[in-house]
Amino acid sequence: MTTFSAVDVITAKRDGAVLSDEEITWILDAYDIGDVAEEQMSSLLMAIYFNGLDPHELTTWTDRMIASGERLDLRGLSRPTVDKHSTGGVGDKISLILAPLVAACGAAVPQLSGRGLGHTGGTLDKLESIPGWRATLSNDEIREQLESVGAVICAAGSGLAPADRRLYALRDVTGTVASIPLMASSIMSKKIAEGTQALVLDVKVGRGAFMKDLGRARELAHTMVGLGLAHGVKTVAQITPMNAPLGQAVGNALEVTESVNVLKGQGPSDVRALTLELATIMTELVGLDVNPSTKLDDGSAFEVYRQMIRAQGGDPDAAMPQAKILEVVTAPRAGYVRSVDALAVGITAWRLGAGRARKEDSVSASAGVMCLVREGEKVEKGQPVFELHADDHAHLSLGRDAIADAVVVGDEQIWVAPLKLNLIRK
Ligand code: URA
Repeated sequence: MTTFSAVDVITAKRDGAVLSDEEITWILDAYDIGDVAEEQMSSLLMAIYFNGLDPHELTTWTDRMIASGERLDLRGLSRPTVDKHSTGGVGDKISLILAPLVAACGAAVPQLSGRGLGHTGGTLDKLESIPGWRATLSNDEIREQLESVGAVICAAGSGLAPADRRLYALRDVTGTVASIPLMASSIMSKKIAEGTQALVLDVKVGRGAFMKDLGRARELAHTMVGLGLAHGVKTVAQITPMNAPLGQAVGNALEVTESVNVLKGQGPSDVRALTLELATIMTELVGLDVNPSTKLDDGSAFEVYRQMIRAQGGDPDAAMPQAKILEVVTAPRAGYVRSVDALAVGITAWRLGAGRARKEDSVSASAGVMCLVREGEKVEKGQPVFELHADDHAHLSLGRDAIADAVVVGDEQIWVAPLKLNLIRK
């Protein structure tokens, strides 16, 4: 194999050149075995942050990440496979409802997920608030559960795209997370390695999302759709707003309870609507002729949810953990709610104990925030707007500071952005 100089590859990208397949493959492999130093890879990541990767470079880069580990083989299942990935938001508990719903429609949903970091929650942390539920499954268990139940939400094993894990940790400490090609290859390498036939991407845009403006959200969505298609995965992206939290509940057990309410035909209308929107796209992608709302309303999605929780050791009937302390935050004045800031609410839930700052931190099952008002709603002075849930006074006090400016009340009623901003297919 040809050997290159790491410095030459870095300077080429720094000066805006297009890297060859050989250079990309060499530098990623050499980094893997320790022949390229952390500071050299950091420098290359920064050069990519500024100069990007063209579509061919990006495909080669992503291929290498996939090839660094195993690829789940889900062929031979009796149902078509389809998954969803959200780029992350506050109160985004859609997976908990969507996976069993789409399974109830006749597909197999392999949701290999991660834990939360910072202000966005992780699906596994939410489900771990259910007594007995376990996140780790072997590849055989994943296949078996997909065949018998139709839906699996579990931890993405360390064998899937391991090169991404190291690069992501490096990006996290070098200011290079928010690069569109690096995000796209990181997300898509894991999803492609997971072995799904079809994929819907829910790209969030707004205050509480990675992408703060629509132009960048569209670019990320197009890039990921292109990568999925280039690797034989039927991929569609939807762009949805993340200015205010989704639904009312933000926090692990609180979000599970809200999801169960939606599965029982109740719960917040925005959560139900987005779930149905995504379920419709997913079932269409794999050619299932079914209206997902019928499966939500006749209780079959809820039944699949119960089977999915039980199959992983959880008790769907167990009482959920409750916080020891509850405190109500009230509206500062009368008027119309102009904004409920998803970022501030996400940070508050994190400070209250629901999230982690470092990968190895533990999270509280019961801490979080209930958002009691929606954007555009009329409120009276002193009306409860948030409920803070905490396990102790130290966390409560941190949460109280973070929530201070999370709601803005004005004189006029505002326009609230529609649920779906853009659908991206190629
Ligand atoms: N999630 C990922 O898996 N990778 C990124 O780069 C960003 C979010």
